Amino acid sequence: MTGSTRTLSKYWMLTNDFTQNPYPVLEYVRRESPVRELSMPGGGRAWVVTRYEDAKAALADPRLSRDIHVQYELMSERSGRTLVPPPEEANHLANLEPPRHTPLRKAISFAFTPRRAEALRPRIEEIADELLDGLAPQARPDLIAGYADPLPVIVIAELMGVPADSWPDFLRWSTALRTHSPAEGSGVLDRSIQELSAYMSDLIARKEQEPGEDLLSALIHADEERRLTRTEILSTGFALMTGGNDTTASLVGGVIAALLTHPAERTELLSEPGRWGRSMDELIRYVSPIANALQRVTTEPVELGGVTIPAKEVVIISVMSTNRDTGQFPDHPDELDLTRSKPAHLSFGFGIHYCSGAHLAKLITEIGARRLFERFPDVRLAVGPEELRYQQNVVVRPLAELPVRL
Ligand code: HEM
Repeated sequence: MTGSTRTLSKYWMLTNDFTQNPYPVLEYVRRESPVRELSMPGGGRAWVVTRYEDAKAALADPRLSRDIHVQYELMSERSGRTLVPPPEEANHLANLEPPRHTPLRKAISFAFTPRRAEALRPRIEEIADELLDGLAPQARPDLIAGYADPLPVIVIAELMGVPADSWPDFLRWSTALRTHSPAEGSGVLDRSIQELSAYMSDLIARKEQEPGEDLLSALIHADEERRLTRTEILSTGFALMTGGNDTTASLVGGVIAALLTHPAERTELLSEPGRWGRSMDELIRYVSPIANALQRVTTEPVELGGVTIPAKEVVIISVMSTNRDTGQFPDHPDELDLTRSKPAHLSFGFGIHYCSGAHLAKLITEIGARRLFERFPDVRLAVGPEELRYQQNVVVRPLAELPVRL
């Protein structure tokens, strides 16, 4: 679409057409109005940042706040009602800024080092293999519902110390948190948050008495100066589930789909196991497991890309757009190129909120994709690639289904 003019609706980023085919629109927006207004369905507006350099600056700018209280104050002002964030959302690192962010981040950092992630490799392989066993007899399995969705849920539940008989509930809650929005008012979301919260409170109480070798137990029994409150531990559990499950599922599904449609790259990866580590960032850049970073609110006027965004405005950072920005990736950014050297994508964020689970997410994805292709070398799409559909969501960008023949 280079050089074209377009008429975009004021809801341009929120339409189904955009979700299914966003890149031509983003290319146009980056060129014509790289920090562009977007009307929100409930009223009000947001500013969408689409260029790599601006996005990186925005992610590192403390005037763009991730503090959920700042966000709720703005929502209260706009709606004329006093809105208060639920405790599950109000006490974790992704929704707070320093000084509260700092100890919350420090408390979990030990669990997410590359070495800790690597130690989980054999267990992640077992979980992947068990899920593949379940797919084997099916004529046309859906690799999203049957594989990409449950794999990270089980790994993260196990990491936190959730017993195996609760994993099906965890998968159900995780799906509900992703697929239902507060605006829809179906009650499923509220019910799922309540159930998950009650379950986690009970689990924390049990681990106070009988600690295990897991992350929740480590947080509960941490040294006094590092210890979080019960509410913070509960909220951190929410952050790991909501931050880790959908995002990783989206990446696992996206990478498998990309390799199903790029047989040469797939052969290359499978012939040399060491290639996965070196190629993962290019796979992530190409797939774009998330559409946008978590939204920010300006605490004072901020100039970005030549536009002054006033104070108390919502800012959306389009990570998906930055992944195809020729300013950062000058050579054929729309293509998967495993020889691209270390693409510095922003899919795990940048700055103090940089993803805690990045190593783990890469490992789950490598194992998930590799085990599938090793076990079923003839696996192929059961539909044409043009029939694949993405789910509409303001943060993650998962495929809705990935039907295959094994
Ligand atoms: C492909 C998978 C993943 C992607 C694309 C991803 C992406 C991100 C991004 C973009 C952020 C920064 C949010 C922002 O600043 O707006 C973030 C933060 C975070 N992620 Fe991930 N994530 C993934 C997997 C995981 C996993 C597996 C976990 C843990 C189990 C995790 C835990 C977190 C946490 C706790 C934060 C908040 C960090 C902070 O605020 O200091 N993520 N993630």
